[in-house]
Amino acid sequence: MSSKKRILSGMRPTGPLHLGNLHGALNNWVGMQDGYDCFFFIADWHALTSDYETPGAITGYVNEMMIDWLSAGLDPEKSTLFVQSLVPEHAELFLFLSMITPVPWLERNPTYKDQIVQIENKDLSTFGFLGYPVLQAADIIMYKANGVPVGIDQVPHVEITREIARRFNFLYGDVFPEPEAILTQTSKILGLDRRKMSKSYNNAIYLSDTPDEIAKKVSQMITDPQRMRRSDPGNPDVCNVFEFHKIYSGQDTVETVDPQCRSAEIGCVECKKIMAKNLIQAMEPLHERRAHFKAEPERVKEIIAIGSQKARAVAKETMEQVRAAIRIKD
Ligand code: TRP
Ligand code: SF4
Repeated sequence: MSSKKRILSGMRPTGPLHLGNLHGALNNWVGMQDGYDCFFFIADWHALTSDYETPGAITGYVNEMMIDWLSAGLDPEKSTLFVQSLVPEHAELFLFLSMITPVPWLERNPTYKDQIVQIENKDLSTFGFLGYPVLQAADIIMYKANGVPVGIDQVPHVEITREIARRFNFLYGDVFPEPEAILTQTSKILGLDRRKMSKSYNNAIYLSDTPDEIAKKVSQMITDPQRMRRSDPGNPDVCNVFEFHKIYSGQDTVETVDPQCRSAEIGCVECKKIMAKNLIQAMEPLHERRAHFKAEPERVKEIIAIGSQKARAVAKETMEQVRAAIRIKD
């Protein structure tokens, strides 16, 4: 047994991953692979809670997501990478947990309350959507994870998970540790239009974008909105392109662009070209790995199958303890 702390996190396969996902989650996961016993999974059943009317797209997204993960540097030799629906024990644990979870805990859940109002094009008044955090709790405690690396938006779900774990232990005896959220710095990367980078805003740079597509998207980025003409001085402090420079260009470039922008020595077209070149260069190793895995779909399937088998072995053990604790079968 490894003495490393176990962590677990997941993503819903609702579309291709973009730079916001890379900086907001994936890079962080990649960095945790050596220090923790890592379980990362694709939450395809969770995707179904909101996209149950169009389930057909999910499978394709699952494969693409695994390719995005591998391209970003998640390593099946180090981490257990798996798909939720390939470990059906999650459904069984979800069922047991749903028996003991008071409905008001779910109705009070802030993400539930927000999404039910915000998402207008889908009918989310379903049992499954209300129960989303119960399924998430099953995902987490199934592996007795100590830590859950997530963004701030997911903290209420980890909190509900702790409450459910505590209630299970109280009713049936100590089986589960209470997991803690490990807060991930949210990505500072904004979309092309300066709003939060998101698939639904159509403002994202995807991990699957080619260098040409990246260059084109960068050329469309909104810069300092006050800078109308080439001769106008700009303000890098309010410019999203400059934020990208800070991430992708060296300190030297950042220090030269700053005054050149303020004095209108450099124009946005040129400034963007420099940034795009650096961004594309930084993405090169990722693009190479992506091309490699794209060319070997069978290998990706195998990685998914092997990771899910590993996860399932752990899940089976937990479920034996769970059934014994509830005395449902002997
Ligand atoms: N709800 C998470 C999200 O939307 C995805 C998720 C499902 C998850 N199960 C999980 C995250 C378990 C961490 C742990 O981002
Ligand atoms: Fe932004 Fe660069 Fe244009 Fe200045 S020159 S406004 S930093 S894109």
